[in-house]
Amino acid sequence: MTQPVRHDAATAAVWTVRVLTLFPEMFPGPLGLSLAGKALKNGVWALETVDIRSYARDKHRTVDDAPFGGGPGMVMRPDVLSDAITAVTEITAGPGGSGQTRVIYLSPRGRRLDQYLVRELAVTPFVVLLCGRYEGIDERVIEAHGLEEVSLGDFVLSGGEPAALALIDACVRLQPGVMGNGETAGEESFERGLLEYPHYTRPASWVDGRGCARLVPEVLLSGHHEKVRAWRLAEAERITRARRPELWAPYAAAHRDEWDREAERCRRRRRNTELDGMTADAARSGDQVEG
Ligand SMILES: C[S@@+](CC[C@H](N)C(=O)[O-])C[C@H]1O[C@@H](n2cnc3c(N)ncnc32)[C@H](O)[C@@H]1O
Repeated sequence: MTQPVRHDAATAAVWTVRVLTLFPEMFPGPLGLSLAGKALKNGVWALETVDIRSYARDKHRTVDDAPFGGGPGMVMRPDVLSDAITAVTEITAGPGGSGQTRVIYLSPRGRRLDQYLVRELAVTPFVVLLCGRYEGIDERVIEAHGLEEVSLGDFVLSGGEPAALALIDACVRLQPGVMGNGETAGEESFERGLLEYPHYTRPASWVDGRGCARLVPEVLLSGHHEKVRAWRLAEAERITRARRPELWAPYAAAHRDEWDREAERCRRRRRNTELDGMTADAARSGDQVEG
């Protein structure tokens, strides 16, 4: 039986996720490797799995039953799930926990996971994730525990575990010290409400499989930081505008005043240049008349 460990001061200080699942062996899975795995080993974040089946009430360790009203598939039982959720959240709210907990049921019906929600969860000390299986869970558990429903996207997974892994990965990489020196979250997709600009690396000229030479945009080789920054921003804006109108609309609305002011500055500069030119022309023609 997998039981969550009670938090001591050391564990309570790090971002902690508890996963309620019928398949605890799926964790840490990919989260045990690379940056997340290293951070897990170094105690930057903590993961606890809770086997829902260990809260079953009969000798067959039953966790599901047929849906009332008929229909295909099975539904996870409210009594079993409720006991598991209560045990896990009581530990969080106990003397070792801070009480700052979000209890989430991974569900295709939920609020779509995005970088805003990831940022919120990444600073929530304790996150509890309930992974459904079968046709899902009894609705009364969601109501009784006020579960927050979060979806990975508009598609149906066979269980909440892959969604939990993705959510945890996104939160872990935002924990202080997890990303390497060279990587920063600041300019990544969604951080500024934009998709990310394109990346290039060596070789500067690369011939693809069809014999076509593909070059790196000149500006990236210029060493001119301000021009590189401006190019990247323009590319991020171009790509977001073309691909994701729903992201572009709020970004454009937030920047409209700034762009209008810049356009006005350009118009003034152009007018002044034209006036300067006209004055110079007039002076020249005056010289000629006098001459
Ligand atoms: C086969 S699905 C149940 C699908 C459900 N009958 C429906 O049509 O909405 C089993 C479990 O996978 C998880 N799941 C499936 N799709 C998901 C998604 N897009 N995001 C998050 N969790 C998902 C949920 O925990 C769900 O209880």
